[in-house]
Amino acid sequence: MAEEGNNLGVRFPEYRPSQVFRLHWFAVHPQAEIPTEARSRFSGAMSQNSPNHDSFLLSMSAIAREAGALLMHHFHQHLKIEYKGDADLVTAADRASEVLIRERIRQQWPTHDVLGEEQGLSDQGSEYRWYVDPLDGTTNFAHKFPVFCVSMALEHRSSGRPGKRIAAVIYDPTRDELFSAEQGRGAHLNGEAIHVSKTATLKESLLATGFPSQKRHKNPNIYFYHQITLRSHGVRRAGSAALDLCNVAAGRFDGFWEFNLNPWDTAAGVLIVQEAGGTVTRFDGAPFELNSRETVASNGLIHDALLKEFKDIFAGRGLEALPDPREYER
Ligand code: IPD
Ligand code: CA
Ligand code: CA
Repeated sequence: MAEEGNNLGVRFPEYRPSQVFRLHWFAVHPQAEIPTEARSRFSGAMSQNSPNHDSFLLSMSAIAREAGALLMHHFHQHLKIEYKGDADLVTAADRASEVLIRERIRQQWPTHDVLGEEQGLSDQGSEYRWYVDPLDGTTNFAHKFPVFCVSMALEHRSSGRPGKRIAAVIYDPTRDELFSAEQGRGAHLNGEAIHVSKTATLKESLLATGFPSQKRHKNPNIYFYHQITLRSHGVRRAGSAALDLCNVAAGRFDGFWEFNLNPWDTAAGVLIVQEAGGTVTRFDGAPFELNSRETVASNGLIHDALLKEFKDIFAGRGLEALPDPREYER
């Protein structure tokens, strides 16, 4: 089926935003006609001029919602936790979610390549590549801490050129929040446009970061966490990089950074931040790339201040000393 191929021929009777499976229907009924009101409410970025992108976003949103519903089903069951590494967890839900997402992509776009966290790269030489994190926030999920999501991005590569992410969705099934973005068309949360915050200084900012579960001993981020915490309103570590990026896009956080994220962690969230008016770079300010392994996202206004802090921390300048625990006794 071609990308523009939601050949609309069947009427969808009613659009009810509260139903978890409401857009699963579109994933398995690609001939469906989507009512205009539902179309604009749902994607918030629809235009008659770009049928390709419209059908991508609708279909991928349906897939993310279906995968999110599957995660919620597993979340309420007894979970068997396995280890991919020292503290790198995986559950049956991660795997089942990826199987489902891959199957839905294969049904609708059989020639597309897919890079997913659990199954790796299926490379057919397509100009389209999906980046799939079937469950971002596995450690939270495994501990029944309800902060996790499904993350999907679609990249298009013109011959000889680097790929560009053209559409992204991140679905948080615990809050029924669907973040979406299309290149050049803004970012949305459940169909409403979202924008980064207007916070102008680092000291008034609320930020987020994360700590990868791999190579923990080689990660310097705890020093960054310490320093930036003392120079801001605080730094949250909620355990889902994809949602952290969405929260920057929605203006809830003013900035986010992390070392060593993988392409499936960032592909969707970075596009959502950029389309919400934010800035994403490497730690030295160089343009972000999916394999950068350094991610700094912000509302743009505090970006330089954040990068300056990183530079100083890397250089060991102006570091706050760890307090002596005896200080607290006084
Ligand atoms: C992890 C989460 C976490 C981040 C880790 C990621 P996973 O993804 O995004 O917030 O700190 O670096 O690996 O393993 O739950 O998909
Ligand atoms: Ca992840
Ligand atoms: Ca994952």
